[in-house]
Amino acid sequence: MSRIDDLMGRMTLAEKLGQLTMTAAGYTVTGPVIAGDSTDSIRDGTLGNLLNLVGPGPVGEMQRIAVEQSRLGIPLLIGLDIIHGHRTLFPIPLAEAGLFDPQTWERTAREAAREAAADGLAMTFAPMLDLSRDPRWGRTAEGPGEDPWLCVQMAGAKVRGFQGADLSRADALAGVAKHFCAYGEVTAGREYAAVDISERRLRECHLPGFAAAVQAGVAAVMPAFTDLAGIPMTAHRALLRDTLRDELGFGGVIVSDYNAIAELLRHGVAADLPDAAALALAAGVDIDMMSEAYRRGLPVALERGTATMARIDEAVRRVLRLKEALGLFDDPYRRGSQAESSGVLAERRALARSVAARAVVLLRNERETLPLAPGIRRLALIGPLADAPGEMRGPWWAAGVAEGHVSVLAGLRDGLPGVTILHAEGTPIDGPQLDGIAPAAALCAQADAVILCLGEAAVMSGEAASRTDPDLPGQQRALALAVIAAARAQRLPVIAIVFSGRPLLVSWLAERVDALLAAWFLGAEAGNALADLLSGRISPSGRTPISWPRSMGQVPLHYAQRPTGRPADSGDKFTSKYLDSPNDPLYPFGFGLGYGRFRYSGLRVTPDTAGAGTPLHVSVEVHNEGSRGAEETVFLFLHDPVASVSRPLLELKGTGKIHLEPGATGTVHMTLPAAELCFLGPDLQPVFEPGEIEILVGPCADRGHLLARRVRLEGPGAPHAPS
Ligand code: BGC
Repeated sequence: MSRIDDLMGRMTLAEKLGQLTMTAAGYTVTGPVIAGDSTDSIRDGTLGNLLNLVGPGPVGEMQRIAVEQSRLGIPLLIGLDIIHGHRTLFPIPLAEAGLFDPQTWERTAREAAREAAADGLAMTFAPMLDLSRDPRWGRTAEGPGEDPWLCVQMAGAKVRGFQGADLSRADALAGVAKHFCAYGEVTAGREYAAVDISERRLRECHLPGFAAAVQAGVAAVMPAFTDLAGIPMTAHRALLRDTLRDELGFGGVIVSDYNAIAELLRHGVAADLPDAAALALAAGVDIDMMSEAYRRGLPVALERGTATMARIDEAVRRVLRLKEALGLFDDPYRRGSQAESSGVLAERRALARSVAARAVVLLRNERETLPLAPGIRRLALIGPLADAPGEMRGPWWAAGVAEGHVSVLAGLRDGLPGVTILHAEGTPIDGPQLDGIAPAAALCAQADAVILCLGEAAVMSGEAASRTDPDLPGQQRALALAVIAAARAQRLPVIAIVFSGRPLLVSWLAERVDALLAAWFLGAEAGNALADLLSGRISPSGRTPISWPRSMGQVPLHYAQRPTGRPADSGDKFTSKYLDSPNDPLYPFGFGLGYGRFRYSGLRVTPDTAGAGTPLHVSVEVHNEGSRGAEETVFLFLHDPVASVSRPLLELKGTGKIHLEPGATGTVHMTLPAAELCFLGPDLQPVFEPGEIEILVGPCADRGHLLARRVRLEGPGAPHAPS
């Protein structure tokens, strides 16, 4: 008899429900603490899973109670939100997405997993795969940005990185793909608000990332807090059972979001806790995180006949299978049993530094203001984010402590030898204080150049951090305007570095400064990475994974829009446009400058006639006309001008990279897999439609900068014809 069959035969109902329950251990800044009653529950076998417990000591202690003092000795599953690193923080996911580099995404996830597993953890509530096209939504920071293809690439890489080749290894974590599904579509960008989108949008944009995570073998999935057209995801039988399990083939654990089962009452679909528990169980939710609905509600639901023992057993088996796959039965103490060496930690810091430098997006660089000219000896470093090590962490800092983070001030003092840094905060990140502005602006009189460090606080993005007006908070605009005026009076170049978990509304700033960098939140090595870029040791290569709107009135804004019957025409009033703003974003998806300057030519696509099942080979020549070596990211888009369903004006289908020294030319090769030539037809089934398509290649999602070639599709699919 298998271990799981044996346990199933011996478990009481209370013990089974314990395996379906996850409770917080109350991790705080002073260290992990656990409520006494949870300890008792672990001992009596009625609590099988914990979140937010960190460190080999506390984890080992709790594990020992479960394994050595509970009746059946079933080990605990312990998880934490390790979103962008554990103790060593990497850039936030939105920033990392802009690397367009699956190998690096996998590597940072691997390192995060090793570090967290060494701290006793076995599960991370990541990757977060929610697309966001609305910067009002704070959780934009945690995800891959606006594009489904990018999300798919990141999903696979992150799952492989967290889980490694074998889940049972001491350095592997179970990943949790979240939040299933379409959470990023919350009404008006307001956290936890209702979602109501078409099935086409769901299938084209929001499901592919989860399908990729499932294909990569993700251990668990977390449903979103939100509803979809009136059905809360935590109770969404059709999406969780029919789509996720049956259609996508997911056989792992579904873990609810924090208190989400109890919140079914607030959603207005359950009358009481037993009702909520029955709905979630029927939908396929295996673990109840924090709402006590399964432990308290399911016994009542069983009596009422609204839940069945078969469904409970099915869920318990899945949880036990995951614990078995993690190797917890064989050795519950394998995670956290070995401290990492100082060499490993140093290498991880070096990785954090290089990834942070690669994540920064250079949005503007007039007259090659950057890198800093050698004549600059005195820099005025001004703004509330200049000396803010804790803020560099960004949202979801896991076990990363503020003191371990390199501020911009510290990074520049260290990384720009021979340059004197004059520093002033000017004004706090948020708040009404104006009195520091004049003294800060006065620093310009002693400087050769000015760097403004502006932006959001780390807690202004992430969960429960929606903003209606994501401009610079507090008095930062007043500070920036005063400093820019003072700098102009001295003819000093002004560089602005903006920290944020989302695109900010910075048109007004962009048009006034000489250089603008989007630093997002860069993690442990933020200041050192920025010093590497400003000094020119590294050329910026980040590309924005999300469009930057000019104003909130343009939102939701994304590049892959479908055509309209009346495309914008400035000479014709009755076309699709605004009276008071251009349609296009301030910075399009994929945009980012470097210290090189690239010219594209010679786009080739072969074959020029392709059947279903034929991949396309795409190549383009890239020439660096600039005076410095740099890396270019090349984007490959597809457009189907005539199809049975109106297709987006551009769809990302691939990327390539090349590093070129000044004056050098190279060829970038990319392959478009045959499956990418299909789309979801009128019945939402994949279809290959003969006819002409366009392949477009270039530096970002701006048609004006793309080279295009047409390819004929021929073959068994029916050509689109009006019927
Ligand atoms: C968030 C999840 C997270 C969970 C556990 C919730 O509030 O929505 O993303 O994994 O808390 O911390």
